[in-house]
Amino acid sequence: MEILRTEHLEKVYGSGETAVRALQDVNLVLQKGEFAAVVGASGSGKSTLLNCIGGLDLPTAGKVWIDGEDLFAMKEKRRTVFRRQKIGFIFQSFHLIPELNVEQNILFPVLLDYRRPDRERLEELLEVLGLQDRRYHLPGQLSGGQQQRAAIGRALIMRPALVLADEPTGNLDSRNSREVMELLLSASRHYRQTVLMITHNGNLAAAADRVFQVTDGVLRQLGETYPARDGGLADGSETYGAPEADGIGGGAQ
Ligand SMILES: Nc1ncnc2c1ncn2[C@@H]1O[C@H](COP(=O)(O)OP(=O)(O)OP(=O)(O)O)[C@@H](O)[C@H]1O
Ligand SMILES: [Mg+2]
Repeated sequence: MEILRTEHLEKVYGSGETAVRALQDVNLVLQKGEFAAVVGASGSGKSTLLNCIGGLDLPTAGKVWIDGEDLFAMKEKRRTVFRRQKIGFIFQSFHLIPELNVEQNILFPVLLDYRRPDRERLEELLEVLGLQDRRYHLPGQLSGGQQQRAAIGRALIMRPALVLADEPTGNLDSRNSREVMELLLSASRHYRQTVLMITHNGNLAAAADRVFQVTDGVLRQLGETYPARDGGLADGSETYGAPEADGIGGGAQ
């Protein structure tokens, strides 16, 4: 089942002599549960790609379908709600709200949607993320790894079909990077969430089902192991509970 499709995606910043073609004819399809990594030099267009796919930036041309819906055919208001429900964003700089504690930050998208927080879901995430004893801490009272885990909790609380991560381990040491990677792998493998992750780390990219490289705005695939899922990081993939336990990704959708 197709979760993401882009067709002839283009992004040009500026115009005339200073125009930058940040994306050129990007055609990308990701299936449910696939884990894809995006690598490429600085300035090659990786973040632009993620931001256009996530509707944070407007492409100059082309289309994006998320879970069968044409993202840019929607009115902006609808797109905002759709994005919140279908897409989880994780950024290199965690973008937590400094005045809210860990629990409130994780629940933020739920509250924005005027939904009643699912306490069971919250407890489960806090446990998986190892943040149970930090739930009332403010972001400023957390380590970088803990802040990133809280940001992942916020990205996963709505059980989004698609998780977009822009260098999620960019500010973390190797141990925390590995933990974050395992959380994302678990989201894909156990809960069949589709993950698209930008990274500069070759080891992390190698654990993905597919690796794409962006060069001057052009995307191409480097290798394909999917659906043979033996490229895992560690054998700790059972750590986060059984898929039928309605965990991180909410099981079959
Ligand atoms: N708002 C903007 N206005 C003009 N040019 C931009 C804008 N955002 C990005 N660019 C340009 O588009 C190109 C792609 O930028 P992008 O941020 O996607 O690169 P990246 O691959 O994510 O790089 P990095 O690895 O450094 O994060 C770059 O040449 C950049 O200068
Ligand atoms: Mg970037």
